[in-house]
Amino acid sequence: MEINGIVLPRAGARLRALYNECLELCNGKDQRKVIVDVGSDHGYLACLLAKSNRYKKVIATDISKPSLDKTLALALSEKLDVDCRVGDGLMVSPDADIAAICGMGGWEIVKILDDSPNIRNLVLQPVQNHIELRHFLIKKHYKIVKDYVLEDKGKFYYIIVTNGTGNNFYTKTQKLLGKCKKDQTYLNYLYKEQKLLSFLENFDITSMQGNKKDIKQKQKYYILLKKLISKGI
Ligand SMILES: C[S@@+](CC[C@H](N)C(=O)[O-])C[C@H]1O[C@@H](n2cnc3c(N)ncnc32)[C@H](O)[C@@H]1O
Repeated sequence: MEINGIVLPRAGARLRALYNECLELCNGKDQRKVIVDVGSDHGYLACLLAKSNRYKKVIATDISKPSLDKTLALALSEKLDVDCRVGDGLMVSPDADIAAICGMGGWEIVKILDDSPNIRNLVLQPVQNHIELRHFLIKKHYKIVKDYVLEDKGKFYYIIVTNGTGNNFYTKTQKLLGKCKKDQTYLNYLYKEQKLLSFLENFDITSMQGNKKDIKQKQKYYILLKKLISKGI
């Protein structure tokens, strides 16, 4: 796929959405902002951001030097100015105003944010544990402005955008599923979740040994999914 003149072989709707959310966070025109792509790896997002010419500086970081070398190689081949720094989380980018932290586990993102609590303009895309990440953001008063699921090549990804500090209002359902538009993508996601948990349909919890809390929570979640689906959301 080609985006903004850069050939990005494995790119799709997810990358496009992340890119657009990053642009929106600086209103698309504020050139004084510094943005960091944490865990840049192949460097697709960092290079697109550099190519946009909308930022004072684009930083790419990764804890792994071989991963960051991929960003550096793409930036060099596209003649783009990306400041590449090896390091953990946001530690090596104290000059950043905006951070994109994408394609990592929710708990890893929580750890990164907990270590650097001052940066609050964020585009986050957890690969799992979006519920735990959302819980952390609400508890720490990150102002969540978007929280939705998108579909890319049959896979589902949560994207959470924060813009400063503030209180959030989330219903019990939204704490589990975000604030998605009630559209076909959301319905597809609910179906997929329901299918994953369909083993709970005839699950006998009394036969289980040990801690039953997790499975009880999953059962509640499964009932909620069925309810939402039966209502057509
Ligand atoms: C699956 S890749 C995601 C690449 C890209 N961000 C995306 O969304 O397509 C995850 C990258 O995050 C890096 N990473 C993991 N933990 C990190 C941390 N604490 N700080 C910086 N980079 C990290 C890994 O080395 C890897 O290159």
